[in-house]
Amino acid sequence: MVASTEFAKAFGAALEPNLDLASPNRNLAPLTARIETTGHLAVGGCRLADLASSYGTPLYVLDEASLRGTCRAYRQALEQHYPGPSLAIYASKANSSLAISALVASEGLGLDAVSAGELLTALEGGMPAERIVFHGNNKSREELALAAGRGVTVVADNWRDLELLGELAEDFSQPVQLMLRFTPGIECHTHEYIRTGHLDSKFGFDPDQLEIVLKHLAGCPWARLTGLHAHIGSQIFELQPHRDLAGVMADALQLARSLGHPIRDLNVGGGLGIRYVASDDPPSIQEWVKTVAEAVLAACRARDLELPRLLCEPGRSLVATAGVTVYEIGSRKEIPGIRTYLSVDGGMSDNPRPITYESQYTAMLANRPLAAATETVTVAGKHCESGDVLLKDLALPPATSGDLLVVFSTGAYNASMGSNYNRIPRPAAVLVHGGVAELVQRREQPEDLLRYDVLPSRLMPVT
Ligand SMILES: Cc1ncc(COP(=O)(O)O)c(C=O)c1O
Repeated sequence: MVASTEFAKAFGAALEPNLDLASPNRNLAPLTARIETTGHLAVGGCRLADLASSYGTPLYVLDEASLRGTCRAYRQALEQHYPGPSLAIYASKANSSLAISALVASEGLGLDAVSAGELLTALEGGMPAERIVFHGNNKSREELALAAGRGVTVVADNWRDLELLGELAEDFSQPVQLMLRFTPGIECHTHEYIRTGHLDSKFGFDPDQLEIVLKHLAGCPWARLTGLHAHIGSQIFELQPHRDLAGVMADALQLARSLGHPIRDLNVGGGLGIRYVASDDPPSIQEWVKTVAEAVLAACRARDLELPRLLCEPGRSLVATAGVTVYEIGSRKEIPGIRTYLSVDGGMSDNPRPITYESQYTAMLANRPLAAATETVTVAGKHCESGDVLLKDLALPPATSGDLLVVFSTGAYNASMGSNYNRIPRPAAVLVHGGVAELVQRREQPEDLLRYDVLPSRLMPVT
Protein backbone atom coordinates (compact mmCIF):
# COMPACT_ATOMS: atom_id res chain seq x y z
CA MET A 1 0.00 0.00 0.00
CA VAL A 2 1.06 3.58 -0.57
CA ALA A 3 0.63 5.54 2.66
CA SER A 4 -1.82 8.41 2.72
CA THR A 5 0.79 11.18 2.39
CA GLU A 6 2.24 9.40 -0.63
CA PHE A 7 -1.29 8.92 -1.87
CA ALA A 8 -1.77 12.67 -1.72
CA LYS A 9 1.57 13.27 -3.41
CA ALA A 10 0.75 10.79 -6.12
CA PHE A 11 -2.25 12.83 -7.14
CA GLY A 12 -0.65 16.18 -6.59
CA ALA A 13 -2.74 19.08 -5.44
CA ALA A 14 -5.99 17.42 -6.39
CA LEU A 15 -6.02 15.12 -3.38
CA GLU A 16 -3.60 16.94 -1.14
CA PRO A 17 -6.28 17.90 1.36
CA ASN A 18 -6.96 14.22 2.01
CA LEU A 19 -4.96 14.40 5.18
CA ASP A 20 -7.49 15.54 7.74
CA LEU A 21 -8.12 12.38 9.70
CA ALA A 22 -10.21 14.13 12.34
CA SER A 23 -12.62 15.81 9.97
CA PRO A 24 -13.27 13.70 6.88
CA ASN A 25 -15.63 16.33 5.41
CA ARG A 26 -12.46 18.24 4.40
CA ASN A 27 -11.02 15.29 2.49
CA LEU A 28 -11.54 14.54 -1.17
CA ALA A 29 -11.51 10.77 -0.78
CA PRO A 30 -12.56 8.30 1.93
CA LEU A 31 -10.12 7.99 4.85
CA THR A 32 -9.10 4.49 3.79
CA ALA A 33 -8.42 5.29 0.10
CA ARG A 34 -5.03 3.85 -0.81
CA ILE A 35 -3.04 2.95 -3.88
CA GLU A 36 -1.93 -0.65 -3.79
CA THR A 37 1.55 -1.61 -4.94
CA THR A 38 -0.23 -3.08 -7.96
CA GLY A 39 -1.15 0.50 -8.89
CA HIS A 40 -4.87 -0.02 -8.21
CA LEU A 41 -7.04 2.19 -6.05
CA ALA A 42 -8.56 0.52 -2.98
CA VAL A 43 -11.10 1.76 -0.43
CA GLY A 44 -11.70 0.03 2.90
CA GLY A 45 -9.02 -2.47 1.90
CA CYS A 46 -11.01 -3.54 -1.18
CA ARG A 47 -9.64 -3.00 -4.67
CA LEU A 48 -12.25 -1.05 -6.58
CA ALA A 49 -11.60 -3.06 -9.76
CA ASP A 50 -12.38 -6.28 -7.84
CA LEU A 51 -15.59 -4.77 -6.49
CA ALA A 52 -16.56 -3.78 -10.02
CA SER A 53 -16.03 -7.35 -11.26
CA SER A 54 -17.95 -8.88 -8.36
CA TYR A 55 -20.85 -6.45 -8.11
CA GLY A 56 -20.94 -4.75 -11.53
CA THR A 57 -21.02 -1.03 -12.29
CA PRO A 58 -22.13 1.61 -11.59
CA LEU A 59 -21.43 0.73 -7.99
CA TYR A 60 -21.83 2.82 -4.85
CA VAL A 61 -19.04 2.01 -2.38
CA LEU A 62 -19.38 3.21 1.20
CA ASP A 63 -16.38 3.27 3.52
CA GLU A 64 -17.44 2.28 7.04
CA ALA A 65 -14.35 3.84 8.68
CA SER A 66 -15.07 7.25 7.13
CA LEU A 67 -18.72 7.19 8.17
CA ARG A 68 -17.91 6.13 11.73
CA GLY A 69 -15.17 8.79 11.74
CA THR A 70 -17.58 11.63 10.97
CA CYS A 71 -20.15 10.34 13.50
CA ARG A 72 -17.46 10.32 16.18
CA ALA A 73 -16.15 13.74 15.12
CA TYR A 74 -19.62 15.25 15.68
CA ARG A 75 -20.15 13.48 19.01
CA GLN A 76 -16.72 14.31 20.39
CA ALA A 77 -16.87 17.94 19.28
CA LEU A 78 -20.29 18.36 20.90
CA GLU A 79 -19.02 16.82 24.14
CA GLN A 80 -15.92 19.01 24.05
CA HIS A 81 -17.51 22.35 23.24
CA TYR A 82 -21.01 22.24 24.73
CA PRO A 83 -21.37 21.95 28.51
CA GLY A 84 -24.98 20.76 28.35
CA PRO A 85 -26.44 17.58 26.88
CA SER A 86 -26.31 17.16 23.10
CA LEU A 87 -27.26 14.84 20.26
CA ALA A 88 -26.13 14.75 16.64
CA ILE A 89 -28.95 13.60 14.38
CA TYR A 90 -28.19 12.13 10.95
CA ALA A 91 -30.32 13.74 8.21
CA SER A 92 -31.13 10.53 6.39
CA LYS A 93 -32.32 12.32 3.23
CA ALA A 94 -28.59 12.39 2.42
CA ASN A 95 -28.53 8.61 2.05
CA SER A 96 -31.13 6.33 3.54
CA SER A 97 -30.61 2.59 3.93
CA LEU A 98 -30.94 -0.07 6.60
CA ALA A 99 -27.17 -0.41 6.84
CA ILE A 100 -26.52 3.31 7.27
CA SER A 101 -29.34 3.60 9.82
CA ALA A 102 -27.81 0.72 11.79
CA LEU A 103 -24.28 2.16 11.62
CA VAL A 104 -25.37 5.61 12.68
CA ALA A 105 -27.52 4.17 15.50
CA SER A 106 -24.56 2.12 16.73
CA GLU A 107 -22.50 5.34 16.95
CA GLY A 108 -25.10 6.82 19.30
CA LEU A 109 -26.52 9.37 16.87
CA GLY A 110 -30.18 10.12 16.23
CA LEU A 111 -31.84 10.35 12.80
CA ASP A 112 -34.05 12.76 10.89
CA ALA A 113 -36.61 11.23 8.55
CA VAL A 114 -38.93 13.07 6.17
CA SER A 115 -41.20 10.36 4.78
CA ALA A 116 -42.76 7.06 5.78
CA GLY A 117 -40.03 5.37 3.72
CA GLU A 118 -37.16 7.03 5.57
CA LEU A 119 -38.93 6.48 8.87
CA LEU A 120 -39.45 2.76 8.32
CA THR A 121 -35.87 2.40 7.09
CA ALA A 122 -34.62 4.01 10.30
CA LEU A 123 -36.84 1.93 12.59
CA GLU A 124 -36.07 -1.33 10.77
CA GLY A 125 -32.37 -0.42 10.84
CA GLY A 126 -32.55 -0.33 14.63
CA MET A 127 -32.66 3.39 15.31
CA PRO A 128 -34.52 3.88 18.62
CA ALA A 129 -37.77 5.83 18.10
CA GLU A 130 -36.85 8.32 20.81
CA ARG A 131 -33.80 9.36 18.79
CA ILE A 132 -35.79 10.00 15.59
CA VAL A 133 -37.29 13.32 14.51
CA PHE A 134 -39.86 13.40 11.73
CA HIS A 135 -39.77 16.37 9.36
CA GLY A 136 -41.66 17.44 6.25
CA ASN A 137 -43.56 20.42 4.88
CA ASN A 138 -46.49 18.31 3.69
CA LYS A 139 -46.79 15.23 5.86
CA SER A 140 -49.71 12.96 5.16
CA ARG A 141 -52.17 11.81 7.80
CA GLU A 142 -50.74 8.28 7.48
CA GLU A 143 -47.17 9.50 7.94
CA LEU A 144 -48.11 11.50 11.02
CA ALA A 145 -50.02 8.53 12.46
CA LEU A 146 -47.02 6.28 11.89
CA ALA A 147 -44.51 8.70 13.44
CA ALA A 148 -46.56 9.73 16.46
CA GLY A 149 -47.84 6.17 16.96
CA ARG A 150 -44.26 4.89 17.17
CA GLY A 151 -43.23 7.54 19.69
CA VAL A 152 -41.14 9.55 17.24
CA THR A 153 -40.82 13.31 17.80
CA VAL A 154 -42.79 15.15 15.12
CA VAL A 155 -41.42 18.44 13.82
CA ALA A 156 -44.50 20.61 13.31
CA ASP A 157 -43.82 22.57 10.14
CA ASN A 158 -47.18 24.27 9.56
CA TRP A 159 -50.81 24.60 10.72
CA ARG A 160 -51.86 21.57 8.68
CA ASP A 161 -49.54 19.33 10.74
CA LEU A 162 -51.20 20.59 13.92
CA GLU A 163 -54.70 20.17 12.50
CA LEU A 164 -54.02 16.57 11.46
CA LEU A 165 -52.25 15.66 14.69
CA GLY A 166 -55.11 17.16 16.70
CA GLU A 167 -57.54 14.93 14.79
CA LEU A 168 -55.34 11.86 15.27
CA ALA A 169 -54.53 12.56 18.91
CA GLU A 170 -57.32 10.50 20.45
CA ASP A 171 -55.67 7.37 19.02
CA PHE A 172 -52.53 7.98 21.06
CA SER A 173 -52.15 7.02 24.68
CA GLN A 174 -49.54 9.73 25.32
CA PRO A 175 -49.36 13.38 24.24
CA VAL A 176 -47.53 13.75 20.92
CA GLN A 177 -43.94 14.86 21.41
CA LEU A 178 -43.46 17.93 19.20
CA MET A 179 -40.69 20.15 17.95
CA LEU A 180 -41.60 23.38 16.18
CA ARG A 181 -39.84 24.43 12.99
CA PHE A 182 -39.69 28.09 12.14
CA THR A 183 -37.96 30.10 9.41
CA PRO A 184 -35.19 32.08 11.06
CA GLY A 185 -34.87 34.71 8.30
CA ILE A 186 -31.15 34.10 7.80
CA GLU A 187 -29.50 34.32 4.40
CA CYS A 188 -26.51 32.19 3.47
CA HIS A 189 -24.48 31.69 0.32
CA THR A 190 -25.40 28.39 -1.25
CA HIS A 191 -27.42 27.22 -4.22
CA GLU A 192 -30.93 28.71 -4.05
CA TYR A 193 -32.50 25.23 -4.22
CA ILE A 194 -30.82 24.22 -0.96
CA ARG A 195 -31.33 27.48 0.95
CA THR A 196 -34.02 27.15 3.57
CA GLY A 197 -33.45 29.75 6.28
CA HIS A 198 -34.50 32.87 4.35
CA LEU A 199 -38.04 34.17 4.77
CA ASP A 200 -39.22 33.06 1.31
CA SER A 201 -39.05 29.35 2.12
CA LYS A 202 -41.67 26.62 2.01
CA PHE A 203 -40.38 25.17 5.29
CA GLY A 204 -41.49 26.05 8.79
CA PHE A 205 -43.63 28.69 10.45
CA ASP A 206 -43.00 32.27 9.51
CA PRO A 207 -41.29 34.11 12.42
CA ASP A 208 -44.31 36.44 12.65
CA GLN A 209 -46.47 33.42 13.42
CA LEU A 210 -44.24 32.02 16.13
CA GLU A 211 -45.95 33.62 19.11
CA ILE A 212 -49.41 32.78 17.74
CA VAL A 213 -48.58 29.12 17.24
CA LEU A 214 -46.82 28.85 20.61
CA LYS A 215 -49.93 30.30 22.31
CA HIS A 216 -52.15 27.94 20.33
CA LEU A 217 -50.10 24.92 21.37
CA ALA A 218 -50.17 25.97 25.01
CA GLY A 219 -53.89 25.19 24.82
CA CYS A 220 -53.56 21.76 23.13
CA PRO A 221 -53.61 18.99 25.74
CA TRP A 222 -52.64 16.42 23.10
CA ALA A 223 -49.33 18.16 22.38
CA ARG A 224 -46.13 18.32 24.37
CA LEU A 225 -43.82 20.86 22.77
CA THR A 226 -40.27 20.07 23.83
CA GLY A 227 -38.12 21.43 21.03
CA LEU A 228 -37.50 24.22 18.54
CA HIS A 229 -35.95 23.73 15.14
CA ALA A 230 -34.48 25.83 12.35
CA HIS A 231 -32.25 24.93 9.41
CA ILE A 232 -30.62 27.50 7.16
CA GLY A 233 -29.50 25.49 4.13
CA SER A 234 -26.99 23.01 2.82
CA GLN A 235 -23.37 22.94 1.56
CA ILE A 236 -22.59 26.10 3.56
CA PHE A 237 -18.98 27.16 4.07
CA GLU A 238 -19.65 30.28 6.14
CA LEU A 239 -19.81 30.14 9.93
CA GLN A 240 -21.45 33.51 10.59
CA PRO A 241 -25.01 32.44 9.61
CA HIS A 242 -24.78 29.65 12.17
CA ARG A 243 -23.71 32.18 14.84
CA ASP A 244 -26.62 34.43 13.88
CA LEU A 245 -29.01 31.49 14.08
CA ALA A 246 -28.10 30.89 17.72
CA GLY A 247 -29.38 34.34 18.71
CA VAL A 248 -32.62 33.95 16.77
CA MET A 249 -33.22 30.54 18.31
CA ALA A 250 -32.43 31.68 21.83
CA ASP A 251 -35.07 34.43 21.47
CA ALA A 252 -37.58 31.79 20.38
CA LEU A 253 -36.55 29.55 23.28
CA GLN A 254 -37.12 32.39 25.75
CA LEU A 255 -40.53 33.13 24.28
CA ALA A 256 -41.61 29.47 24.24
CA ARG A 257 -40.52 28.87 27.82
CA SER A 258 -42.23 32.07 28.95
CA LEU A 259 -45.45 30.66 27.53
CA GLY A 260 -45.06 27.51 29.60
CA HIS A 261 -43.63 25.08 27.08
CA PRO A 262 -41.13 22.62 28.58
CA ILE A 263 -38.53 23.21 25.85
CA ARG A 264 -35.60 20.86 26.29
CA ASP A 265 -34.18 20.72 22.74
CA LEU A 266 -32.73 23.38 20.49
CA ASN A 267 -32.18 21.87 17.04
CA VAL A 268 -29.99 24.05 14.84
CA GLY A 269 -30.30 21.88 11.71
CA GLY A 270 -27.43 20.80 9.48
CA GLY A 271 -25.76 22.44 6.52
CA LEU A 272 -22.00 22.08 6.94
CA GLY A 273 -20.41 21.82 3.50
CA ILE A 274 -17.86 19.35 2.24
CA ARG A 275 -14.92 19.45 -0.16
CA TYR A 276 -15.99 18.18 -3.59
CA VAL A 277 -13.05 19.73 -5.46
CA ALA A 278 -9.64 20.88 -4.25
CA SER A 279 -10.64 24.57 -4.27
CA ASP A 280 -13.53 23.98 -1.84
CA ASP A 281 -12.57 24.97 1.68
CA PRO A 282 -15.28 24.06 4.19
CA PRO A 283 -14.79 24.44 7.94
CA SER A 284 -13.99 21.23 9.76
CA ILE A 285 -16.66 19.45 11.79
CA GLN A 286 -14.80 20.59 14.93
CA GLU A 287 -14.83 24.25 13.85
CA TRP A 288 -18.50 24.09 12.93
CA VAL A 289 -19.58 22.44 16.17
CA LYS A 290 -17.39 24.78 18.24
CA THR A 291 -18.94 27.81 16.52
CA VAL A 292 -22.49 26.56 16.98
CA ALA A 293 -21.94 25.42 20.58
CA GLU A 294 -20.25 28.63 21.67
CA ALA A 295 -22.90 30.76 19.99
CA VAL A 296 -25.77 28.85 21.61
CA LEU A 297 -24.03 28.99 24.97
CA ALA A 298 -23.42 32.74 24.72
CA ALA A 299 -26.97 33.43 23.50
CA CYS A 300 -28.49 31.42 26.36
CA ARG A 301 -26.24 33.01 28.97
CA ALA A 302 -27.05 36.49 27.67
CA ARG A 303 -30.76 35.74 28.21
CA ASP A 304 -30.22 33.86 31.45
CA LEU A 305 -31.75 30.71 29.98
CA GLU A 306 -31.21 27.22 31.34
CA LEU A 307 -29.11 25.41 28.74
CA PRO A 308 -31.17 23.33 26.31
CA ARG A 309 -30.03 20.01 24.88
CA LEU A 310 -28.18 21.00 21.70
CA LEU A 311 -29.25 19.06 18.62
CA CYS A 312 -27.76 19.35 15.15
CA GLU A 313 -28.78 17.54 11.96
CA PRO A 314 -25.83 16.96 9.62
CA GLY A 315 -26.44 14.96 6.48
CA ARG A 316 -23.91 15.69 3.75
CA SER A 317 -20.92 16.21 6.06
CA LEU A 318 -21.58 12.86 7.74
CA VAL A 319 -21.84 10.63 4.72
CA ALA A 320 -20.69 12.31 1.48
CA THR A 321 -16.96 11.65 1.68
CA ALA A 322 -17.48 8.07 2.80
CA GLY A 323 -19.00 7.26 -0.59
CA VAL A 324 -17.50 6.82 -4.05
CA THR A 325 -19.11 5.64 -7.27
CA VAL A 326 -17.33 3.32 -9.68
CA TYR A 327 -18.35 3.45 -13.35
CA GLU A 328 -17.12 1.59 -16.40
CA ILE A 329 -16.10 3.77 -19.31
CA GLY A 330 -17.77 2.87 -22.59
CA SER A 331 -17.89 5.00 -25.72
CA ARG A 332 -15.58 7.86 -26.63
CA LYS A 333 -16.43 10.76 -28.95
CA GLU A 334 -13.77 13.22 -30.06
CA ILE A 335 -14.91 16.53 -31.54
CA PRO A 336 -11.67 18.04 -32.81
CA GLY A 337 -10.92 21.42 -31.31
CA ILE A 338 -14.03 21.27 -29.15
CA ARG A 339 -14.23 18.42 -26.67
CA THR A 340 -13.70 14.73 -26.02
CA TYR A 341 -16.62 12.92 -24.43
CA LEU A 342 -16.13 9.74 -22.44
CA SER A 343 -19.41 8.07 -21.60
CA VAL A 344 -19.93 5.98 -18.49
CA ASP A 345 -22.56 3.37 -17.68
CA GLY A 346 -24.51 5.59 -15.26
CA GLY A 347 -25.08 9.33 -14.94
CA MET A 348 -27.93 11.58 -13.87
CA SER A 349 -30.06 8.70 -12.58
CA ASP A 350 -27.45 7.68 -9.97
CA ASN A 351 -26.09 11.23 -9.47
CA PRO A 352 -28.55 14.01 -10.32
CA ARG A 353 -26.51 16.72 -8.58
CA PRO A 354 -24.48 17.94 -11.59
CA ILE A 355 -27.57 18.40 -13.77
CA THR A 356 -29.58 19.90 -10.90
CA TYR A 357 -27.06 22.21 -9.24
CA GLU A 358 -24.10 22.19 -11.67
CA SER A 359 -22.19 20.46 -8.89
CA GLN A 360 -18.54 19.63 -9.41
CA TYR A 361 -16.71 16.45 -8.47
CA THR A 362 -13.22 14.96 -8.37
CA ALA A 363 -12.56 11.71 -10.24
CA MET A 364 -9.78 9.46 -11.49
CA LEU A 365 -9.20 6.08 -13.07
CA ALA A 366 -9.64 3.38 -10.42
CA ASN A 367 -7.58 0.83 -12.31
CA ARG A 368 -4.72 3.17 -13.33
CA PRO A 369 -4.72 6.05 -10.85
CA LEU A 370 -0.98 6.71 -11.20
CA ALA A 371 -0.93 6.99 -15.01
CA ALA A 372 -0.10 10.51 -16.16
CA ALA A 373 -3.17 12.65 -16.86
CA THR A 374 -2.41 13.90 -20.34
CA GLU A 375 -5.83 14.70 -21.72
CA THR A 376 -8.88 16.70 -20.76
CA VAL A 377 -12.24 15.01 -21.16
CA THR A 378 -15.89 15.52 -20.36
CA VAL A 379 -17.51 12.58 -18.62
CA ALA A 380 -21.04 12.06 -19.87
CA GLY A 381 -23.75 9.81 -18.52
CA LYS A 382 -25.79 7.43 -20.65
CA HIS A 383 -29.15 9.17 -20.37
CA CYS A 384 -30.98 10.80 -23.24
CA GLU A 385 -30.31 14.32 -22.07
CA SER A 386 -27.48 16.54 -23.36
CA GLY A 387 -27.10 17.94 -19.87
CA ASP A 388 -26.34 14.49 -18.48
CA VAL A 389 -22.69 15.33 -17.84
CA LEU A 390 -21.03 14.20 -14.60
CA LEU A 391 -17.72 16.02 -14.91
CA LYS A 392 -16.53 18.74 -17.26
CA ASP A 393 -12.87 19.26 -18.21
CA LEU A 394 -11.46 16.41 -16.19
CA ALA A 395 -7.73 15.70 -16.52
CA LEU A 396 -7.32 11.95 -17.11
CA PRO A 397 -4.81 9.54 -18.59
CA PRO A 398 -5.91 8.40 -22.05
CA ALA A 399 -8.86 6.18 -21.17
CA THR A 400 -10.61 3.56 -23.24
CA SER A 401 -13.68 1.40 -22.89
CA GLY A 402 -13.36 -0.98 -19.99
CA ASP A 403 -11.39 1.47 -17.82
CA LEU A 404 -12.96 2.23 -14.47
CA LEU A 405 -13.71 5.75 -13.34
CA VAL A 406 -14.11 6.49 -9.64
CA VAL A 407 -16.01 9.64 -8.66
CA PHE A 408 -15.36 10.80 -5.09
CA SER A 409 -17.69 12.25 -2.45
CA THR A 410 -20.85 10.67 -3.82
CA GLY A 411 -22.11 9.34 -0.48
CA ALA A 412 -24.69 12.11 0.00
CA TYR A 413 -27.64 13.11 -2.18
CA ASN A 414 -26.68 10.65 -4.95
CA ALA A 415 -28.44 7.35 -4.22
CA SER A 416 -31.13 9.17 -2.25
CA MET A 417 -31.90 11.60 -5.08
CA GLY A 418 -31.49 8.97 -7.78
CA SER A 419 -34.20 8.01 -10.25
CA ASN A 420 -35.04 5.46 -12.88
CA TYR A 421 -34.92 7.98 -15.70
CA ASN A 422 -34.78 6.12 -19.03
CA ARG A 423 -35.78 3.05 -17.04
CA ILE A 424 -32.24 2.59 -15.89
CA PRO A 425 -32.03 0.35 -12.82
CA ARG A 426 -30.49 1.69 -9.62
CA PRO A 427 -26.91 0.62 -8.82
CA ALA A 428 -25.91 -1.80 -6.08
CA ALA A 429 -24.25 -0.45 -2.93
CA VAL A 430 -21.52 -2.15 -0.91
CA LEU A 431 -20.11 -1.35 2.50
CA VAL A 432 -16.35 -1.84 2.75
CA HIS A 433 -14.32 -2.36 5.89
CA GLY A 434 -11.01 -4.08 6.61
CA GLY A 435 -10.77 -5.68 3.19
CA VAL A 436 -14.31 -7.08 3.29
CA ALA A 437 -17.16 -5.86 1.11
CA GLU A 438 -20.79 -6.47 2.09
CA LEU A 439 -23.72 -5.89 -0.20
CA VAL A 440 -26.08 -3.38 1.43
CA GLN A 441 -28.31 -2.59 -1.56
CA ARG A 442 -29.01 -5.08 -4.31
CA ARG A 443 -28.70 -3.92 -7.92
CA GLU A 444 -32.09 -3.28 -9.46
CA GLN A 445 -32.81 -5.30 -12.59
CA PRO A 446 -34.72 -4.00 -15.63
CA GLU A 447 -37.52 -6.49 -14.82
CA ASP A 448 -37.89 -4.91 -11.35
CA LEU A 449 -38.91 -1.72 -13.07
CA LEU A 450 -41.97 -3.41 -14.55
CA ARG A 451 -43.25 -4.55 -11.15
CA TYR A 452 -45.62 -1.65 -10.66
CA ASP A 453 -46.80 -1.34 -14.26
CA VAL A 454 -50.27 -2.64 -15.00
CA LEU A 455 -51.26 -3.45 -18.56
CA PRO A 456 -55.06 -3.28 -18.94
CA SER A 457 -56.27 -6.52 -20.51
CA ARG A 458 -57.79 -4.68 -23.48
CA LEU A 459 -54.28 -3.46 -24.38
CA MET A 460 -52.65 -6.88 -24.07
CA PRO A 461 -50.76 -7.88 -27.18
CA VAL A 462 -52.74 -10.42 -29.17
CA THR A 463 -50.61 -13.52 -29.65
C1 LIG B 1 -34.39 20.01 8.05
C2 LIG B 1 -33.07 19.58 7.54
N1 LIG B 1 -32.16 19.13 8.40
C3 LIG B 1 -30.95 18.72 7.99
C4 LIG B 1 -30.60 18.75 6.66
C5 LIG B 1 -29.25 18.25 6.28
O1 LIG B 1 -28.49 19.20 5.66
P1 LIG B 1 -27.00 18.86 5.23
O2 LIG B 1 -27.04 17.61 4.44
O3 LIG B 1 -26.58 20.02 4.44
O4 LIG B 1 -26.21 18.73 6.50
C6 LIG B 1 -31.51 19.21 5.72
C7 LIG B 1 -31.16 19.28 4.29
O5 LIG B 1 -31.27 20.25 3.61
C8 LIG B 1 -32.79 19.65 6.17
O6 LIG B 1 -33.70 20.10 5.30
